[in-house]
Amino acid sequence: MTAPKHFLQFNDFTREEFEYLFERASWIKGKFKRYEPYHPLFDRTLVMIFEKASTRTRLSFEAGMFQLGGAAIYLNTRDSQLGRGEPVEDAAQVMSRMSDVVMIRTFEQSIIERFAANSRVPVINGLTNEYHPCQILTDIYTWIERRGSIAGKTVTWIGDTNNMCNTWLQAAELLDFKVNVSSPKGYEVEPAKANLKKGSAHFEQFADPMEAARGADIITTDVWTSMGFEAENEARMRDFADFQVDAEMMRVADKGALFMHCLPAHRGEEVTAEVIDGPHSVVWEEAENRLHAQKALLEYLVCGRIDSK
Ligand code: CP
Ligand code: NVA
Repeated sequence: MTAPKHFLQFNDFTREEFEYLFERASWIKGKFKRYEPYHPLFDRTLVMIFEKASTRTRLSFEAGMFQLGGAAIYLNTRDSQLGRGEPVEDAAQVMSRMSDVVMIRTFEQSIIERFAANSRVPVINGLTNEYHPCQILTDIYTWIERRGSIAGKTVTWIGDTNNMCNTWLQAAELLDFKVNVSSPKGYEVEPAKANLKKGSAHFEQFADPMEAARGADIITTDVWTSMGFEAENEARMRDFADFQVDAEMMRVADKGALFMHCLPAHRGEEVTAEVIDGPHSVVWEEAENRLHAQKALLEYLVCGRIDSK
């Protein structure tokens, strides 16, 4: 049996594969919007394991699988044997004999890697502490829909430097754009944690968020306290207080800049209501595009390349 292809971090795919997926997402989205049935995953099953909460990821994978003609099964830690100590390796053996593709949202990246190493079918990262590749696949697809290629552009990342930021940094290396990062002291990017191949060649760290935002094409941020880090909430509210995306920041960005946020958002913390509900914001398109981009991803992992007709 040949080893299946997984999407555990952005780096797992090549630039050509992303170019294919962006095109494919657009084709699949168009077909869906025209109400033309398309069922390449008829009789196929996606298993989704959630060890953390989710709205968008669950909805988009479940609806996407259904729309492609297949079925999705939702498992969480509370109701499955995973929460009672069944080894991840054993779970992978069993689940991958009953399904065609698996999506996991969990804590440490090492958990999903252990699962994938024992899986007979492709495994997709639906968010770990370290990475959120499906979200960045979608965010870049959303940029391309609105503005064309992302190569040579500048993305400004404001705030915490964990899963979302790490994945933007990997994407910048692969798709040849730049990320300006501005985060509080003590929360700066760690290139080794982000698993960057080119070190800091595609990003720059700024102490001043306004400097990071100057001339940017995309301004993006995320919650100050991610899932699993709730114990740090009080300290983080203090540490991140000066790292809010506001109208002043959007004014120093490029005139056509887009504001992105993976959601859920906290208005008045990482972003003002004026920005997230304002004219630069594409957050609802971003959320919808999770569906279309991940349908392309599911199709690719289960069926391989298909020529768009
Ligand atoms: N952006 C995102 O992954 O949302 P959920 O946590 O709702 O899945
Ligand atoms: N960084 C956030 C993203 C949520 C989609 C978290 O990990 O909770």
